[in-house]
Amino acid sequence: MKFFIDTANLEQIKEAQDLGILDGVTTNPSLMAKEGISGKEAVLNHYKTICEIVDGDISAEVLSTTYEEMIKEGDELAAIHPNIVVKIPMIKDGIKALKYFSNKGIKTNCTLIFSAGQALLAAKAGANYVSPFLGRLDDISVDGMNLIEEIRIIFDNYMFDTEILAASIRSPMHIINCAKIGADVITSPLDSILNLLNHPLTDKGLAQFVADAKKMS
Ligand code: E4P
Repeated sequence: MKFFIDTANLEQIKEAQDLGILDGVTTNPSLMAKEGISGKEAVLNHYKTICEIVDGDISAEVLSTTYEEMIKEGDELAAIHPNIVVKIPMIKDGIKALKYFSNKGIKTNCTLIFSAGQALLAAKAGANYVSPFLGRLDDISVDGMNLIEEIRIIFDNYMFDTEILAASIRSPMHIINCAKIGADVITSPLDSILNLLNHPLTDKGLAQFVADAKKMS
């Protein structure tokens, strides 16, 4: 399973990269705005910087919602770096844009996936990734993990190359359950990734080993 970090914060991206387990980065307009990035040049520069930190797929989301504008914007984003993945929303014009980029050999990530039907359409249009939003489904009392299972079955039935990029991760349990189901990728905030490290028995055991090590020296 690939690990992506879901942030536009450069310090967090560097920290995850330094861990040595990072395969890519996802961003969205809300995450970019949170870092105070605004204006076309600043946005393009920020993506360029992320590409220089991480050697992996970097999702950069289009801001527009019409086919013509999305393909213009996506072409500009893709020109930044070969690792840029153009992130396209799950709307009718988005499906057409996915097909356009697929025909051009530009990688895409279809975002805002909340149903198996949406994932199927995106895969048919040639998306490289679909991003089902687990946490936002859980937030409205719908089982997000069930959606991951449905998409896994459908993609396996027809051997779609499209990868399931589980998004809107809220906890380490989301990551573990995605791994059990067979999501290809998780994209997560740094804290949920770091929380995978924690176990009280590890802390207790290490404290004992350190204490006993002192007796040996
Ligand atoms: C990633 O591609 C998504 O934009 C992101 O995971 C959404 O997460 P949120 O529901 O926590 O905003």
